[in-house]
Amino acid sequence: MHSRSPDAEERLQNDWFAAAGLQPPRHLAIHPDDDMYQGRVLQVSPERRRQVYMRCGHESLCVLENALSAAGCSLDRAGAVLDFACGYGRLLRFLVDRCGAERVHGSDILAPAVQFVRDTFGIHAFDSARRPEDLVLPRRYDVIHVGSLFSHLPRATFAPFLAVLARGLTDDGVLVFTTHNPSVHRGALDPSGFTFVPLSESEVLATADYGSTFVEPALVQAIAKAQGLTAVATLEREVWRIQDVHVASRRDLPGLRHWRPTPIARGSIVRAELRADGHAWVGGFVRLPRVLGAPREVWLGVDGARLVRAEWRPHPQALPDGEGGRWFDQFDWYTEGPAAELLAGEHTVAAIAVLADGTRSCFDARLLERVC
Ligand SMILES: C[S@@+](CC[C@H](N)C(=O)[O-])C[C@H]1O[C@@H](n2cnc3c(N)ncnc32)[C@H](O)[C@@H]1O
Repeated sequence: MHSRSPDAEERLQNDWFAAAGLQPPRHLAIHPDDDMYQGRVLQVSPERRRQVYMRCGHESLCVLENALSAAGCSLDRAGAVLDFACGYGRLLRFLVDRCGAERVHGSDILAPAVQFVRDTFGIHAFDSARRPEDLVLPRRYDVIHVGSLFSHLPRATFAPFLAVLARGLTDDGVLVFTTHNPSVHRGALDPSGFTFVPLSESEVLATADYGSTFVEPALVQAIAKAQGLTAVATLEREVWRIQDVHVASRRDLPGLRHWRPTPIARGSIVRAELRADGHAWVGGFVRLPRVLGAPREVWLGVDGARLVRAEWRPHPQALPDGEGGRWFDQFDWYTEGPAAELLAGEHTVAAIAVLADGTRSCFDARLLERVC
């Protein structure tokens, strides 16, 4: 293992933003207690944590905007937007830049998280409650987003929390929430369609209140309808490749019939090596929602600037179901060649897919490894 420069994590984050063609958010601070940033959750090498954290937060924004657009609304027209169960603001930092702090609201059960998002992003923030019957929403919202809370709730509070949030919508309001797709669960699934396992990433929340929940989309829809959310639609494994996204409202949303996956590439740089003779080899895989087709091109960004074209081909086997085989296709890619100019110093590489519709999506950034 090579030693990393102290700023390697920040460089990879910045090079990911550059390769994705994005301006970094105005607020880059990450709270040290943010579970979504911890190594045990991200399971990536320390220098890649910021990049993955920012990528997941930005993906939430893209998925939310895509869902709202299918529902016939947009963040531009929403007077008040609530990110419920916002944590320490992985998504909020992007929402604030998109909407302006005045229209953005956040809430979480963790008081330090609520204080952090209020102080850091300047948004309206309020404490949530452990029991849904104790939750009081201070107002009604045009958009409520709930990323990865219903993926953790037990049966007893799942519907009641949904009911409180449904009542918190304006008449035309839209609720966007996520649940774990059952296909990602490695253990036995409950025949009821609702599987709750009392285990989670949190070291502070009781596992009886906050575990890991896997629900059949049809059951999620039935529960939502029972709370008065008469229009409800689902895209399976739409966010982070493991969670279903549901859009729900009390009014009819005919556009949801044409809701398609957000154009986002997910994948990995598996090897990024530079030999002592100056020959470089970088390769990995990229996975795309099947309905979006094959990539148009795959590129490698070097040091956040120079672009090198990569070869790609379809992966020879279908992905297993747990890996998303029903929804995604994998493409393998690589590029190699002389790169003696990279022998000195530390260098980053970032992998970019250009999708069939022209969207540019950067799915990984890593340090180039020196090998013998
Ligand atoms: C998996 S994290 C997701 C955080 C954030 N939405 C994101 O995507 O980064 C789930 C969040 O739900 C919060 N949470 C748990 N129970 C809650 C409750 N009863 N009300 C509000 N938030 C809750 C946790 O504190 C945690 O911040």
